[in-house]
Amino acid sequence: MPRPSESDTDNALERLPKAALNRDGLRETWALATYMRPYRSRFFVGMGSLFASATLGLLFPLLAGALIDAAMNNSQAAVPVLGPLTLNQIALTLAVSILFQAAGSFSSALAFNRVGQSALADLRSATYARMLSLPMTFFGQRRVGELASRVSTDIAQIEGALIDSLPQLCRQAVFLSGGLVLIAATSLPLTAVMLGTLPLLIAAAVFFGRRLRAFSRETQDRLADSQTIVEETLQAIASVKSFANEAFELRRYDSANHATLAAALKAARWRAVFVAFFIAALFGGILIVLWYGARLLQMGALTGGELTRFVLYTTFVGGAMAQSAELFSQIQKTVGATQRVREILHEKVEDEGASTEAPTATRLRGEVAFEHVSFRYPSRPDITVLHEIDLVARPGERIALVGPSGAGKSTLTALLLRFYDPEAGTLRIDGRDARDYPLAWLRNQMALVPQDVVLFGGSILENISYGRPGADLAAVEGAAQQANAHDFIAAFPEGYETLVGDRGIKLSGGQRQRIAIARALLKNPAILILDEATSSLDSESERLVQEALDHLMQGRTTFVIAHRLATIRDVNRIAVIDGGKVVETGTHDELSARPDGLYRHLSALQFGATPTPQS
Ligand SMILES: Nc1ncnc2c1ncn2[C@@H]1O[C@H](COP(=O)(O)OP(=O)(O)OP(=O)(O)O)[C@@H](O)[C@H]1O
Ligand SMILES: [Mg+2]
Repeated sequence: MPRPSESDTDNALERLPKAALNRDGLRETWALATYMRPYRSRFFVGMGSLFASATLGLLFPLLAGALIDAAMNNSQAAVPVLGPLTLNQIALTLAVSILFQAAGSFSSALAFNRVGQSALADLRSATYARMLSLPMTFFGQRRVGELASRVSTDIAQIEGALIDSLPQLCRQAVFLSGGLVLIAATSLPLTAVMLGTLPLLIAAAVFFGRRLRAFSRETQDRLADSQTIVEETLQAIASVKSFANEAFELRRYDSANHATLAAALKAARWRAVFVAFFIAALFGGILIVLWYGARLLQMGALTGGELTRFVLYTTFVGGAMAQSAELFSQIQKTVGATQRVREILHEKVEDEGASTEAPTATRLRGEVAFEHVSFRYPSRPDITVLHEIDLVARPGERIALVGPSGAGKSTLTALLLRFYDPEAGTLRIDGRDARDYPLAWLRNQMALVPQDVVLFGGSILENISYGRPGADLAAVEGAAQQANAHDFIAAFPEGYETLVGDRGIKLSGGQRQRIAIARALLKNPAILILDEATSSLDSESERLVQEALDHLMQGRTTFVIAHRLATIRDVNRIAVIDGGKVVETGTHDELSARPDGLYRHLSALQFGATPTPQS
């Protein structure tokens, strides 16, 4: 899955839904604070420095006012706590306070970033660990790519809240409360005038801002639409070109693009109105306060210093009020994001198996018995996929599963791997209920070679040793040799270090399959599942893969799913599955001899023999 680009993340953050600030949401958010616990001392350092620097910031207008008064008195001015100071002394005090304020801000920003980033790294690991241990049922019910990007957006939101919004909120709270107290102490009538005008202006600004945001969201939606067209067509570029539909796609894109433009132009008008309004409101508000203050000054009810102080505090208070709306919406989004992340952390993990102790034998003998096994997928409870399956494989036997598409062959092997558990009946492995084994131990005894092998981004060496992490090069080469993969790997200039996957070279289907076989050989499982491992190969690679499979199957219980019956002639037994039931079992010869059997019918279709007319 491609990583979302920077602007995608911004877009996604912008669109995050807000949650109501109720008790549950806040409790969940608080629960997430446990991730900060290991870093709490640093967190308190951050809080301490933040309050110190905010308080120093609050002193600034006070000292600035004193500076003006000292200038107008042509001598000293009284500064609270410090007593009467000259103009230069006041300026010096201001300079020192600015230095301390900067130091405090540095220390708090650093502390919050460190605490936030460390806590988030832990949270990401915890979420990923939880996702990995969720049962297949969970993944069956969700679009996994969507889930992954949603979680990363949610965590980015929480990150922003920890690193920016929380400190901002504290700082603005200090400015708002301290500022209000200090302006009230300076001049009550002027405070009344200010409080009468400011909230109105801010409410209007918030209203305009909302409208504006709605319009930009509209633009982004239209942009996303046109982006989807681009992605779709580029992904299916071969189809577009083979149908010569370039012009058609371009028209489709153009109309989406025009819709984007129209929305953007509408947003542009509102943005211009907003900017104009904001400028007028900002300066208008200051003008009203200043005008009234100047009159008070004229009447001698206020000194010049007090007026300066007042105007500066007003900008603090106004700024804090204006920010509070944005901060509040950030908090709402964060609560929503937290709830969604916590949902995943609360999801039930896979059943680890009744016994957590590994069985005394280090290796299974490989006896598998399905006893009256029935199963429905939890995501589609209305369809019974397997009906009372009875099927036994003795250690080392090769069992072929054949039957029409959708019969339930892959599902049967999914039960064997314990991706799901039977709804009724029992799956026994070496005579013991499969649920009694520790899950990871059990899966370590099995290997699956699927039809469509997906390699991980990394070297061929890493991909093969995925079967047994930590295996040395000699073991990997040995496995590759047995899997008929060594020759083609050695032919690459970089040999086993050749990169494959998204960013590496592309391997053919047969090559990927042989790598998967080498991986399985390295794992050395007692039970092997081959799900159509040779279906998409030409006859030459099929021969190579078949040879490799013959090596792989030796001494292991093997389930082979195959549509091409020629590949399963020498298995011990063939189970024909149709509509979720085992309808026939026997060897190739036995089943071919049955006059109206499904197997005989299927093999007649494939080998071209005329089926005997049914009696
Ligand atoms: N994850 C799933 N969730 C819900 N239903 C599923 C899921 N996987 C398969 N099914 C359904 O279960 C039935 C059996 O599917 P299964 O994949 O086992 O068939 P199959 O025999 O392997 O077919 P094929 O030969 O085409 O691979 C089908 O009806 C399918 O739609
Ligand atoms: Mg299948």
